[in-house]
Amino acid sequence: MGLMDGKRGLVVGIANDRSYAYFIAESLLEHGATCLFTHLPGDKMNRRVGKAIDQLGVAKPWLESMDAGKDDDLDRVFGKIGDDFGSIDFLVHSIAFANRDWLAIDNFTNTPRDVYAQAIDLSAYTYVAMASRAVPLMTPRGGGSMIAMSYYGAVKAVPGYNVMGVAKAALESSTRYLARELGAKNIRVNTISGGPLRTLSALAVGRFGELQDWVEKRAPLKRNVTGKDVGDTAVYLLSDLASGVTGQNIYVDCGYSSIGV
Ligand SMILES: NC(=O)c1ccc[n+]([C@@H]2O[C@H](COP(=O)([O-])OP(=O)(O)OC[C@H]3O[C@@H](n4cnc5c(N)ncnc54)[C@H](O)[C@@H]3O)[C@@H](O)[C@H]2O)c1
Repeated sequence: MGLMDGKRGLVVGIANDRSYAYFIAESLLEHGATCLFTHLPGDKMNRRVGKAIDQLGVAKPWLESMDAGKDDDLDRVFGKIGDDFGSIDFLVHSIAFANRDWLAIDNFTNTPRDVYAQAIDLSAYTYVAMASRAVPLMTPRGGGSMIAMSYYGAVKAVPGYNVMGVAKAALESSTRYLARELGAKNIRVNTISGGPLRTLSALAVGRFGELQDWVEKRAPLKRNVTGKDVGDTAVYLLSDLASGVTGQNIYVDCGYSSIGV
């Protein structure tokens, strides 16, 4: 029997077969979940995400266009889930965006207002915006569970992570406030702080390769994370195994965050 048998949810953030969301969906599917998906607007994105979902072996996928920065898009997608299925059990938020010009080493101090605001809007506020629309879909199920993806740069200054670190701090804090309010509805809200994984977004971060080399040398497990490490933790958090876990940030980073020097 799968840990996610009978559970259905929305996975937001697959860009291709290297995305964290891809590995999360892969683990969820392995454990029996039904996953619904979105892609950024445009034919190219539709094709690219469709191809990745095909690789996951999902027959006739539920796939909708959604820019999480647009309330109308969010309303349409969550409304359609309600119309098509009535309810969901889980939500995966695995998206972030910051202008890559400001993700260079030593390029934080002069961050413009609009770049800062956009990073927080798309990388942190979108979790709140999706959570508020997921709640009415989770209450008919007697509760639910949601996760978002964070990174160590939320709590420590990591060279090149810059404004994205500020956005991740907002994301982790939003998680605690959401958890506090939604706990009474038996809805659990957590984040996973994943180690550096070579994805499209990661390559925008200044000297990303050096970050991975550093982790391999220093992390207690002497390696970088795999997508499966994070995907399997997502299954734990979204399944009933984690029934008492909410408001938490779980590090899946081969132990890197636990060491001093
Ligand atoms: N790769 C890493 O090293 C790493 C480490 C820790 C946390 N994370 C986080 O994991 C999450 C997924 O990133 P990834 O590394 O898999 O990269 P990715 O590029 O594969 O995925 C990022 C996703 O964000 C989506 N996105 C961006 N703006 C959006 C918008 N306005 N509306 C809807 N979707 C939007 C993109 O379409 C893409 O699917 C992000 O939150 C990222 O910050 C990544």
